[in-house]
Amino acid sequence: MKIAILPGDGVGKEVTAQAVKVLKAVMGKHAAMELAEAPIGGAGVEAAGDPLPAATLDVARRAEAILFGAAGVPGDENIPYAMRPGASLLRLRKDLGLFANFRPVFMFPELIGASTLKPEIVEGLDIVILRELTGDVYFGEPRGHRATASGEREGYNTMRYSESEVERIAHVAFQTARGRRGKVCSVDKANVLETSQLWRDVMTRVGKEYPDVELSHVFVDAAAMMLMRAPKQFDVMVTGNIFGDILSDCAAMLTGSIGMLPSASLALDKKGLYEPVHGSAPDIAGRNIANPMAAILSMAMMLRYSFDLADKADRVQRAVAGVLAEGYRTPDIFQPGMKRVGTSEMGDAIVAALARMPA
Ligand code: IPM
Ligand code: MG
Repeated sequence: MKIAILPGDGVGKEVTAQAVKVLKAVMGKHAAMELAEAPIGGAGVEAAGDPLPAATLDVARRAEAILFGAAGVPGDENIPYAMRPGASLLRLRKDLGLFANFRPVFMFPELIGASTLKPEIVEGLDIVILRELTGDVYFGEPRGHRATASGEREGYNTMRYSESEVERIAHVAFQTARGRRGKVCSVDKANVLETSQLWRDVMTRVGKEYPDVELSHVFVDAAAMMLMRAPKQFDVMVTGNIFGDILSDCAAMLTGSIGMLPSASLALDKKGLYEPVHGSAPDIAGRNIANPMAAILSMAMMLRYSFDLADKADRVQRAVAGVLAEGYRTPDIFQPGMKRVGTSEMGDAIVAALARMPA
């Protein structure tokens, strides 16, 4: 197993260390694992003057899977776009063809009280946001800043999707739904945007190849509202890059903490980048208080999708559920009466839960 470890910045370093610790524990001493760590984001700028140093890109290209922490440093909105830590992640996604971003949103029963929504709205919640990750206004050309005829500055970006890009994410959505509750909701803004009209046409056409899957279409504004009002009506929600960015943060909050949510970004060849949905959180970095569960659950997704080790992935998930049931909580999900622990103690608790589990 060739795995690139890219911890990045802020709490990314802390939570990735816990994910690696749990990975080693679940795989055992004799597993043939090759872990290659490399700097990215602000750490890349510090090490090599580039948020995505050539050596790091090389490590990522050679790996079968990548464990990614977070990229972002305070004040990075003031540096040129290409040098920003966040840009490293976008380049990596594009370069490795990681077009299918799975963001599962599920409710651990122990955390129902941590959600800002009423328990009956979120109890038993289990949906997947499938976000297209290598197209859209994130990568469309032309883009930039220019002067208008009247001499003021103007910023511009291009929203675009080709038929083949929509087709391949559509197939992923329908196939994912087949393994779940058989429903795909495609989210767009076809009442306003040509790009979305094409998206909707292609989704409808590909949907005909999956008569056993129920397809619906919702405009993105209504989708945001429905996610807050009655999220359990969804199964797989498929959408473009920018809408998916926004809706996945929205959906994350249903579960009480973005610190719980893992993600997988997959290429056609099963290569994947696995990262917590949360960012580098500079405000709490370095204090051993970040929740490592999203990173640990992302590592479990890696075992499942890139290495076909579903049994090991299940064990990690059971260990996470187990420590929650025992009352272990990082501050983001803390409730009175629970055991407050730090980042590394939470990692230790999960390792201990694995050790106690029958083989
Ligand atoms: C995400 C993040 C990234 C994105 C940023 C860090 C570039 O918000 O993965 O959701 O917008 O895709
Ligand atoms: Mg985001």
